[in-house]
Amino acid sequence: MKVIGFVGSPRKDGNTDVLVQQVLNGVSAAGAETRIFYLNELNIKGCQGCNACKVNDKCALQDDMTALYDEIAEADGLVLGSPVYLSYLSGQTKCFLDRWYALLAADYTSKLKQGKKIVLVYAQANPDGELYRQSFASLSEFLNCCGIEVLDTLVAAGVGEAGAVTNDDAFMKNARETGERLVKVIKMAHVFKKPDAVSGPSKGKRNRT
Ligand SMILES: Cc1cc2nc3c(=O)[nH]c(=O)nc-3n(C[C@H](O)[C@H](O)[C@H](O)COP(=O)(O)O)c2cc1C
Repeated sequence: MKVIGFVGSPRKDGNTDVLVQQVLNGVSAAGAETRIFYLNELNIKGCQGCNACKVNDKCALQDDMTALYDEIAEADGLVLGSPVYLSYLSGQTKCFLDRWYALLAADYTSKLKQGKKIVLVYAQANPDGELYRQSFASLSEFLNCCGIEVLDTLVAAGVGEAGAVTNDDAFMKNARETGERLVKVIKMAHVFKKPDAVSGPSKGKRNRT
């Protein structure tokens, strides 16, 4: 079993990085393989809106996203973390996610194998952890279109300084346990896999994202 993490903050050892790593620590402790990618260090161009991915199977751009498409396709689970920038995602995270458009077919069904699970992680300076929930919901909806179930959304609120979240023992513990739970849920899903598991929540969904 493989779980991959994406850090959408440019700050190494910042709150997003710490939390994505902490979830992955839980994943490793539960016996799954992990890998982490720092979006800020990768060459990921913005989506060109050319729709080549709707005619051909693949995105027309050739950059670091090419390898990431394979990583995403092969992963059983994902952890995606972003700092809140201007009430939503960092530019690095948004740019990365725009390229996920290539994972949707011309009829907006998902090209991915169904059954993947994801944990979302956000870090924000504002102490109100509910403040941006509505804007986070649009990403969860898009992931659902991709046939990826959002297992949990962790919001570290009131953390302005890089690494401030490490002072919150309860939050750190919860992040690690979330990683352990992610592995358990994926294992359970494999055990109870339905014969028609290839048709997931995105089947028949034709709304533009
Ligand atoms: C460009 C920029 C925009 C930000 N916008 C917000 C915001 O809208 N709301 C908020 O609560 N914090 C905002 N912050 C603060 C960060 O979300 C906060 O410091 C977070 O912990 C950064 O995560 P990191 O340590 O992983 O980089 C912003 C920070 C930057 C640099």
